[in-house]
Amino acid sequence: MLATWRDTFEIALKEIGDISGFTVFDAGPEGYASRVLAQRIGDGQIIGVNMWLDFYKAVRKMVGAKLMQKLVLIYDDMKQMNYIKDCFFDLVVSYETMVSIERRTPGSTLPILHQFYRILKQNGRFLAVENFPLNEVKPIDEAQELQIKSLKILNKLVPIKVHYNAPQLSKMLRQVGFENINWKMVSKGDRVSSNSVIREINGLKSLVNEIIKKQKEREEYLNEIQEIDKQVKRTGLRTPPYYALYARKIS
Ligand SMILES: C[S@@+](CC[C@H](N)C(=O)[O-])C[C@H]1O[C@@H](n2cnc3c(N)ncnc32)[C@H](O)[C@@H]1O
Repeated sequence: MLATWRDTFEIALKEIGDISGFTVFDAGPEGYASRVLAQRIGDGQIIGVNMWLDFYKAVRKMVGAKLMQKLVLIYDDMKQMNYIKDCFFDLVVSYETMVSIERRTPGSTLPILHQFYRILKQNGRFLAVENFPLNEVKPIDEAQELQIKSLKILNKLVPIKVHYNAPQLSKMLRQVGFENINWKMVSKGDRVSSNSVIREINGLKSLVNEIIKKQKEREEYLNEIQEIDKQVKRTGLRTPPYYALYARKIS
C-alpha cells in the first residue's frame, strides 16, 4: 500500500522519541505537522510562525478546535522572530517548509536556520521532513511522473532559485552550530488524497490566470494542466520522495 503523508511524518518523528510535555516550534505551519504534534505533546505547547495570510484558517481546519488550544500561531517571516526568547524550544520541526522558504523569501534559509539554532534549548532537536529536489528524482510510477510535471509548472510560474538537498542542508546546519547531523529517506513518495489533487490542480489553474497575461501563453499552460488533470483521474498523484534530516544543538 502507498504511504500517506501521515505515515511518512510519523516514521520521521519516531526517531525523536517521546515528545510529551515538549515545547515545539512548528516552522511554516499549515496544519499537517501541527496535528500530529498536538496529538503527541500531552500538556506541551506548539508555537508556529507563518507569513501566509490564510494559514490560521488552514491550521484550524486540520487540527480542530480542541487541539488548537495547544497552539500559538504568529503571522510573520521566520527570519525576523527576535521576539522569541533564546533557548526556548525542545524541538523545531520543518515539514515541507525548507523549499517554501526559498520560494517565498529567497536567500533566507541560512538566517532562518540561525534562528532555529538560537531558539532551541541546549540538547534541543531539529527535524526537517522534506522532498528531494525534482532534478534528483527518478519517477517510480506514472502518478509520481505527473506530480513532477505539475511541480515543474509551478516552478515556472513561481521560480525557485535553489532547492537544497539533504547534504546541502546538513552543511548549512553545521555552519550555524548544529551537531549530530544525519538524514535518511523516509518515503519513496506519498499518495496524494483526491481532495488535495483537486486543490492542487485548481491552485495551478488560478496561478496561471493570475500570473500569465498573454492569452496564447495562458492557453498553452491551461491545456498542459488539463492534460495532467485527465491522466491524474486514472493514476492519481504521488509526491516526490521524502527525507528526514535530524540535528541537535549540543552547546
Ligand atoms: C508547504 S507549507 C508547509 C506545510 C506545513 N509545515 C504543514 O505541516 O502543514 C510551507 C509554508 O511555509 C511558509 N513560509 C515560507 N517561507 C516562510 C518564511 N520565511 N517565514 C514564515 N513562513 C514561511 C509558507 O507561507 C507556507 O505556508
